[in-house]
Amino acid sequence: MTISNPIEVRLGKKAILLVLLCIAVVGDKLVHGGRSIPSMEKELGVEKKLKLLNRPAVKTIQSEDGDIIDCVDIYKQPAFDHPLLKDHKIKMKPSEELLAKVKEASSDSPTHTPSQAWRKSGSCPRGTIPMLRVQKHHLLNTTSLEDYGRKPWHGIAKHEISSLNKSYAFGFLKKHEYGVIIGAGYSYLGAKANLNVWNPYVEVTGEYSSSQIWLRNGPWDNADSIEAGWIVHPDLYGDAATRLFVYWTNDSGEKTGCFNLICPGFVQTSFEIALGSILFPVSSSGGPQYHITLTILKEPLTDYWWLSYGNVVIGYWPANIFKGLGQVATIVLFGGDVYSPRNESQLPHTSTAMGSGEFATMHWSHASFVGEPRVMDYSMSFKYPDPGTAYSSKTNCYSAENYAEVRFTEPLFYFGGPGRNMYCK
Ligand SMILES: *[C@@H]1O[C@H](CO)[C@@H](O)[C@H](O)[C@H]1NC(C)=O
Ligand SMILES: *[C@@H]1O[C@H](CO)[C@@H](O)[C@H](O)[C@H]1NC(C)=O
Ligand SMILES: *[C@@H]1O[C@H](CO)[C@@H](O)[C@H](O)[C@H]1NC(C)=O
Ligand SMILES: *[C@@H]1O[C@H](CO)[C@@H](O)[C@H](O)[C@H]1NC(C)=O
Repeated sequence: MTISNPIEVRLGKKAILLVLLCIAVVGDKLVHGGRSIPSMEKELGVEKKLKLLNRPAVKTIQSEDGDIIDCVDIYKQPAFDHPLLKDHKIKMKPSEELLAKVKEASSDSPTHTPSQAWRKSGSCPRGTIPMLRVQKHHLLNTTSLEDYGRKPWHGIAKHEISSLNKSYAFGFLKKHEYGVIIGAGYSYLGAKANLNVWNPYVEVTGEYSSSQIWLRNGPWDNADSIEAGWIVHPDLYGDAATRLFVYWTNDSGEKTGCFNLICPGFVQTSFEIALGSILFPVSSSGGPQYHITLTILKEPLTDYWWLSYGNVVIGYWPANIFKGLGQVATIVLFGGDVYSPRNESQLPHTSTAMGSGEFATMHWSHASFVGEPRVMDYSMSFKYPDPGTAYSSKTNCYSAENYAEVRFTEPLFYFGGPGRNMYCK
C-alpha cells in the first residue's frame, strides 16, 4: 500500500479503526454466542450435579470462611446409595477395646492441633452428620464435572522396594510424586500417625498436594486402598485451603473411588467432624507446629475400618466394598503425594509443593513430618512400621528422610519440597 496524501492516510486510519470496531463488536457477539451455549449447558450440568451431590439439611451452618455445612439425617447419608450397602445396618460406634486403642493413639504429642473452622459458627445435632455442601463455585472450575471428586486416572506404575531379602511390589499412580515411609510384609489391622499440617502452594487448579496415610491390599495394579489426611485441592474445593479428607477405591482408582462422601462408600457416624472442612491454623516455618492424629483400625473378624480424628471417631469404611481389604491391609504408607497432570516432556516441572514446600533435610519446624507412624497387626498393639523405608519418587523435586536427632531414639520422618527448582526442571 502506498498512501502519500496525509488526508488519505487519516481517512485510511479511520476506516481501519471503523473496521476494527466492527470486528470487535461482531467478534464480541461471536465469542459470547459461541460461549453462551456451552456455558448454559455447563450451568445446567452444574445444577444437576449439585442436586445429586447435596442432601436435604436438618440444619445449615454458614461458616465465616464461606463453607456451608449441612447437618444431614444420618440415615440419609450418601453411603446407603452404594449397591452393596442397600441393606447395611449402620454401626454407631466401635467396641470399647477399639475406643481404648484410639485413645492410646491420640495421647500426648508435642505439637498443637488445628480446629475445624466451621465449628466457630455452630454445631450439628446428634442423629445428623455434618456434610460440606458442594457449592456452585466448586463445580464451575473443576476439570471434569463428570469425574468430580475422583482422582484423575492416568494408569499405574510398578515399584519395588527390598529389605532384608524380601521385596515388595506396589503400584504408584502415574503423574503423582510421593515422599513416603513404607510398612509391608505383614497383615495389618490398622495404622496411625500424627500428620504435621501445612498449606503447600498448588500452582494450578487441577493439581493437588496431600499428606496422608494409605492402607492397601491387592495386586500392584489393581489394589484396594483406604486413605485419610489433609489436602490442598483447588479442583475439588475452588480454593487453596488445607482440608481434611478421606478417600477409598477397590481398583487402584481406575473406575471406583472418590474423596469424602462424594460417592457412596464411607459411612459417617460423627456429628462433630465434617470431611472436607478447613483445618486452621496450620504450621508456619520456624513458628508453631500443628498436627492432626488420624487412626484407622479394624478388629479381627469385623467388617469395619474405623477412622478417628484425635479421639473422635468419624465413621468407617464397610469391609464388604473391598476385596483384600475385606480382611487385612498388606501395605501401609505415610507421607506426601503431589499430583500434576502435566506431561513429562512438558517443561518446566510443576512448582506445586509437597509437605511444607521445604526439603526433608530442613527438619523440625521447616520440613513437614509424620510423627509416630504406627501399624497394628494381630497382636493389636501399635508398632513402628517395618521395614520403615523412606522413599522419594523424585528426590530433586521432593525428598524423604528418616532423621533421628539423638542416636538410638526413634527417627522422625520428614518429607517434601518445592517442586520446580534448579535441580528439578
Ligand atoms: C538373607 O539371605 C541370606 C542368604 O540366603 C541369609 O544368609 C541371610 O540370613 C538372610 N537374611 C535375613 C535377614 O533373612
Ligand atoms: C476459576 O476460573 C477462572 C477463569 O479460569 C479464574 O479466574 C478463577 O480464579 C477460578 N476460580 C477458582 C476458585 O479457581
Ligand atoms: C468395588 O466398588 C464398586 C463401586 O462401589 C462396586 O460396584 C463393586 O462391587 C466393588 N467390588 C468389590 C469386589 O467389592
Ligand atoms: C506429551 O507432549 C508431547 C509434546 O507436546 C506430545 O507429543 C505427547 O503426545 C504428549 N504425551 C501425552 C501422554 O500426552
